[in-house]
Amino acid sequence: MGAAYSATERKAGNVTNEWSKPEHAAAYLARMHDIPHRAAGEGTVLAEIPTDAKRILDLGCGDGHLLALVLAHCPDATGVGLDFSPAMLERAQKRFADDSRATLVEHNLEEPLPDLGPLDCVVSSFAIHHCADQRKRGLYEEVFNLLEPHGVFCNLEHVASPNERVHARFMTAMDMMPEDEDPSNKLLDVETQLQWLKEIGFEDVDCHWKWRELALLAGRKPQVRAAGDGQEMDEAPSQAEVRWLDSQLEAFNQQKVGRDDFQPVNLVIREQGKVVAGLKGLAGWGWLYVRVLWVEESHRHQRLGSRLLERGEQLARERGCIGACLSSFTFQAPIFYERHGYSTFGKIDDYPQDQTLYFMSKRFDAGH
Ligand SMILES: C[S@@+](CC[C@H](N)C(=O)[O-])C[C@H]1O[C@@H](n2cnc3c(N)ncnc32)[C@H](O)[C@@H]1O
Repeated sequence: MGAAYSATERKAGNVTNEWSKPEHAAAYLARMHDIPHRAAGEGTVLAEIPTDAKRILDLGCGDGHLLALVLAHCPDATGVGLDFSPAMLERAQKRFADDSRATLVEHNLEEPLPDLGPLDCVVSSFAIHHCADQRKRGLYEEVFNLLEPHGVFCNLEHVASPNERVHARFMTAMDMMPEDEDPSNKLLDVETQLQWLKEIGFEDVDCHWKWRELALLAGRKPQVRAAGDGQEMDEAPSQAEVRWLDSQLEAFNQQKVGRDDFQPVNLVIREQGKVVAGLKGLAGWGWLYVRVLWVEESHRHQRLGSRLLERGEQLARERGCIGACLSSFTFQAPIFYERHGYSTFGKIDDYPQDQTLYFMSKRFDAGH
């Protein structure tokens, strides 16, 4: 069944997706119920889904097996199954021929999800790992945005083993030979995926079930808290809404100051082609803001930091800046900046505990 791919190729996602081929779908359908412990994973999915859920979506639904289980679990729900394989959708259509609660939609998961209205629950089984990693994350974000507050996402998934040895043991446990490996697999570890779900804003994120490379990754969209008449406070706004906040403040600032002349001041020092030190700053509104000044440990005490700071200040002066400012923790380098003429105009003690955060500035016309 298809060519075998090396671990590196699989990890990079440099492989095709065979699932659009009818014979690939047929081969899976013939053995899908032989997947060890499948029922245990699916039972754990159902345990995560409230029985009063009303709108369900199954991503990569195949023949509709999981969607049917979820609809049986949620008697008042309607469900949508998405898949890009006509062969799979045909099988799903047969399954739901007498069940008007299920709708099947041909859709490629590489494309943004269609607007299906608000959803209480998004499930998927053994499908998302056929998308490249970047798309997996994008898909998780889209799921988050489609879910209602308190909505549940359950991804029963084929995940990566920590190394080839453990992967070989999974293959043996599945009674599969290396040549049986699905060339469409783009497996990713559990930890990275759980981290993504948390970053996106899901709560209660966990791997609730795992057998070797099969795992249930789940999370819930946080509840929206009421904040007053007709208003609601959302503790997990979408990334677009957060970007909107930034853009609104930027527009307001620009209107008040009358100019938006910010330009990056970025410098690096390389040694034999490798970066060993650098400065990242922003010059605008007459000031240089030094965000990062970093020197590799092996290259400290060679004045690299001083050279970067002096050159950054010089560039800022040439762009009409009158001074520079930054923040530095006790365990960073406030003394270094003092030597360069910076003085502390504010500090917060115990940030973090037993340390101090200093706010420092320097005017270029003050003699330095
Ligand atoms: C291993 S099967 C799992 C099917 C079903 N969810 C199950 O648990 O039995 C993988 C499913 O993902 C679908 N799939 C793979 N890549 C896809 C893509 N890019 N867009 C939509 N569906 C895809 C396949 O067509 C197939 O139905």
